[in-house]
Amino acid sequence: MAEQEIQKIGDKLLSIRGFVFPESSKESLTPQYMDSLQTFQIRDDDVYVVTFPKSGTVWTQRILTLLYEDEFPEAVDQTSIDLMPWLEFPQPEHDYPNRRCPRLFCSHLPERLMPRGLQGKAKIIYVRRNPKDIMVSYFHFTHYLKILERSESYNAVMDEFLNGRMIGGCWFDHIKGWYINKDKYNILFLSYEEMIRDLKGAVLKICKFLGKNVSDDVIDSVVKKTCFTNMKKDPKANYAFLPDDVADSGKGAFLRKGMKT
Ligand code: A3P
Repeated sequence: MAEQEIQKIGDKLLSIRGFVFPESSKESLTPQYMDSLQTFQIRDDDVYVVTFPKSGTVWTQRILTLLYEDEFPEAVDQTSIDLMPWLEFPQPEHDYPNRRCPRLFCSHLPERLMPRGLQGKAKIIYVRRNPKDIMVSYFHFTHYLKILERSESYNAVMDEFLNGRMIGGCWFDHIKGWYINKDKYNILFLSYEEMIRDLKGAVLKICKFLGKNVSDDVIDSVVKKTCFTNMKKDPKANYAFLPDDVADSGKGAFLRKGMKT
């Protein structure tokens, strides 16, 4: 695949087909891998959480991994990311084609770059968030994550957002692509704001969509574990496990404020 298929965006980001990601992930996300995703074999019981970055990905990821805990009791000590890895950033130990069922994935990919076989198969939960809060969250994220170029001001991050020079690329394309093509997919749209307003209601909606019959006790336990305060303390879900060369814990946290404006 030609080098020119990879575009450099600023100091620390790359873009392949308009999807922007940290240069530090270039070993896992190559143009070849991106192309191979078009024919990635989907299973009916796969579940995908899709978001534009900073929209509530790791929150939804944690809800899902807790809801599926009964199916993977052996995985009780694993982190959210082990149980629900990123489709576009495969790690050798994950071995997606041979992963046990049901496979859970996260993704920041726009609709046009997702596996074609997803249409009419599997389940997708798409979480969106007020773009102003995405920008503020991303601003702080660039200070926390060493692998990102630091945004100097809110004006600078707004400029990056409007020009698609942030992880994920263009928010407008992302949300529009998923929304206008929604009828092709088995998809549930949720918003970060409704999760903040009524977490239990959102968890119940997710269970209904997944066809998961869980007891009231399990629902209550998932809600309790995924409220901001408890999740922030949970070493399996708070992303404090990110290595020192990736994140600077002195400059912030993945779970920063957890609020809507
Ligand atoms: P803030 O930076 O505004 O606090 P993503 O996972 O898509 O990168 O999104 C990160 C945002 O989701 C951060 O927003 C983070 O604090 C928030 N978040 C993560 N877990 C949350 C939870 N349990 N409750 C509320 N917000 C949460």
